[in-house]
Amino acid sequence: MRGLPLGCIRSFLCPARVTSRLLVVYCFLFLTVTFLLGIRMHFKSYVVAALYGLPALANAAPSAASTSSSVSSSSSAGSSSDDHFKIYTIKAENITATLIPYGACLTSLLVPDRDGNKQDVVVGYDDPHSYAHDSQTNRTFFGAVVGRYANRIKNGTFSIDGTDYHIPENEHGGLDTLHGGPVGYDMRNWTVTSYSDSSVTFTLFDQGFENFPGDVISHATYSVSTEKSVENPKGLPQLTTKLVSLALTKKTPIMLANHVYWNLNAFKNPTVLNDTTLQLPLSPRFIGGDGILIPTGEILDVATAFDGALDFTEPKLIGKDIDKTASLCGTGCIGYDTCWLVDRPAAYAAENSVVPSVHAASDKTGITLDVATNQAAIQIYSCNGQNGTIATKESQAKRNKAQDGDSGAAYVNKYGCFVIETEDWIDGINQPQWGRRPYQIVGPDDGPVVNFATYQFGTF
Ligand SMILES: *[C@@H]1O[C@H](CO)[C@@H](O)[C@H](O)[C@H]1NC(C)=O
Ligand SMILES: *[C@@H]1O[C@H](CO)[C@@H](O)[C@H](O)[C@H]1NC(C)=O
Ligand SMILES: *[C@@H]1O[C@H](CO)[C@@H](O)[C@H](O)[C@H]1NC(C)=O
Ligand SMILES: *[C@@H]1O[C@H](CO)[C@@H](O)[C@H](O)[C@H]1NC(C)=O
Ligand SMILES: *[C@@H]1O[C@H](CO)[C@@H](O)[C@H](O)[C@H]1NC(C)=O
Ligand SMILES: *[C@@H]1O[C@H](CO)[C@@H](O)[C@H](O)[C@H]1NC(C)=O
Repeated sequence: MRGLPLGCIRSFLCPARVTSRLLVVYCFLFLTVTFLLGIRMHFKSYVVAALYGLPALANAAPSAASTSSSVSSSSSAGSSSDDHFKIYTIKAENITATLIPYGACLTSLLVPDRDGNKQDVVVGYDDPHSYAHDSQTNRTFFGAVVGRYANRIKNGTFSIDGTDYHIPENEHGGLDTLHGGPVGYDMRNWTVTSYSDSSVTFTLFDQGFENFPGDVISHATYSVSTEKSVENPKGLPQLTTKLVSLALTKKTPIMLANHVYWNLNAFKNPTVLNDTTLQLPLSPRFIGGDGILIPTGEILDVATAFDGALDFTEPKLIGKDIDKTASLCGTGCIGYDTCWLVDRPAAYAAENSVVPSVHAASDKTGITLDVATNQAAIQIYSCNGQNGTIATKESQAKRNKAQDGDSGAAYVNKYGCFVIETEDWIDGINQPQWGRRPYQIVGPDDGPVVNFATYQFGTF
């Protein structure tokens, strides 16, 4: 923030000598201020100011000149392809994360277990280039930010103000679009717009990519901290994720989400079924899906559906009721791949307030994870599609060998992990009766879409 041209902010008219870099910082500052003012405040005046940083970003990302379907020229100006896989490390006491601009991916996260040993609790690769290879083969979305619209869009179509839009489908032979299309935000090279010892921000300027309407700018900020605060009274190691997006030119669906695969047993067990408990304290309801996981429109009750298998209102081993989930994760599939609603207690909590939404704990390592978010839903995927073909990180095997004399699971097995996506009601753009369209479809007159979450790590 050093050297920020204050006169520029006052006049909203930046002199030509102001560098691109400063403009990016300038834009980012306004988003930060906006965020700090709180999600319930009125944003519009700040948003207008923030937009003045855009020309700089356009200069930094010459994708402006490319067609919406071209992916080849969206790399940053003057940056070699290696920059997209450069590792950014952020640290606070007892928490260290690594990230890369490609997909704005979280690639590792070290926190202490109950013996004080460091464990990597996220699934991914040691070699950053493997993320690009993964995109071309398995496309697991390990650790990435997914967008412009997370999860599935039925038929790849939606309608806004009487105009029908069609985006490329990339799943089930054309029946739906998953995580933004053939080239989602998970495959884009984000620009690093801010970096300190404890936080990093990746920015993506999306100009109608994959046929979505209009331009969208998004900032993905990851930060770590162990400072005591009202939200973190014990000063636990905490990761915070902020996904802040603005529609700039047209009304468009926006729903970004973090797509981190967790393994709190650090692959010391072959699966998470028998050692990891999950609790979704505010989730007595979930969204019903068809055989390819497209919402049917039905909202179901965890107490009755699937003989209670989705009832995680109290802590329960992930594997306890998994046998009862036949076809829950699609025809013939056993496991969870489900969107639970986060029902805030109306008397206490505003609609988008940050509330504790997920608790998970591994008996193997003693590591606990508590997630709080402002989002209205949580998607949990229990790695039903993994099948022991992707190797676990060598760094993890080495750590396990040194700690236990056993390297642990060599491969990411079926049920060997679980994904938590904080997001809105999936495919809400195609279910108008849910009333979620105003939260998911935004235009240039609207404030930012903010997906905020904290991940706190403790032990027991
Ligand atoms: C991201 O960068 C890599 C390496 O430079 C490149 O191969 C890839 O095409 C880029 N992705 C997009 C979507 O531009
Ligand atoms: C860091 O972790 C160690 C080992 O678990 C613990 O003894 C120490 O109190 C932690 N530090 C903070 C600030 O929590
Ligand atoms: C991942 O991709 C490799 C090829 O690179 C393939 O052999 C393997 O089956 C894939 N595994 C999964 C889980 O998609
Ligand atoms: C499905 O998408 C096609 C375009 O691929 C469109 O013509 C059709 O109307 C869509 N169907 C529905 C039910 O939206
Ligand atoms: C998990 O426990 C079940 C019994 O509840 C057992 O059949 C299974 O082998 C165990 N799996 C693992 C991976 O430990
Ligand atoms: C593992 O899963 C991947 C992706 O779903 C698939 O391509 C591959 O054939 C599977 N391999 C085995 C051995 O089942």
